Amino acid sequence: MPPTRPFVVAIDGPAASGKGTLARRLAERFGLAHLDTGKLYRATAFLVLDAGADPADPAAALAAARRVDTALLADTRLLAENVAGAASVVAAIPEVRAALLAFQREFAANPPSPSRGAVLDGRDIGTIVCPDAAVKLFITASPEARAERRVRELRGLGGAVIYGDVLQDMKERDARDSSRRVAPLAAAPDAETIDTTRLDADQVFAQASEIIARALSAQG
Ligand code: CDP
Repeated sequence: MPPTRPFVVAIDGPAASGKGTLARRLAERFGLAHLDTGKLYRATAFLVLDAGADPADPAAALAAARRVDTALLADTRLLAENVAGAASVVAAIPEVRAALLAFQREFAANPPSPSRGAVLDGRDIGTIVCPDAAVKLFITASPEARAERRVRELRGLGGAVIYGDVLQDMKERDARDSSRRVAPLAAAPDAETIDTTRLDADQVFAQASEIIARALSAQG
């Protein structure tokens, strides 16, 4: 019997749209492995900053991308806003994206057992990393709603943050992510978009779960 292809869910969207939380919950519900691909870019940025180098320097960023390992992805220092900003700078460098692509595709093709598939969330999962994903979701919300969520998240981590600064940083990062030449933030033509501005996390989870359950039953 030929091996069955892993069931892949691709989730993309702008900063703080809620895609990370959603991806984690969906993975748990459907027995899938989860990869937050933003962590790969954050880890790269963290290593560059830690070495005192410039995130816009392609050689320094590529060297850092090659040093990213699974253990670093769980480091809470990756959650800082300055790391997020530097992540979107290294993410615009084609060599960095190429270096991180293999890791993501390998995760989707061979999810850690016993998972029957994987959920990957990021900016280019449905368009570049997993164009054949069984389900593609694009999760979005107004910049203001997203900035409010990020402020709550950062305050929860004990940070003193100002809403206006977070909103401004996020808009700059979104602009950089959407306008870059390689793998810009974009909804795949076959993605289902969920606007979460007026939805809470449970409502988004319910909508996405329905879409996935439908795809799973269609697959038999
Ligand atoms: O959590 P948040 O949505 O704020 O950001 P993230 O998903 O951790 O991603 C941090 C940065 O990594 C983004 O602003 C993108 O520039 C970059 N990224 C990317 O280019 N491609 C991905 N698949 C995931 C993240």
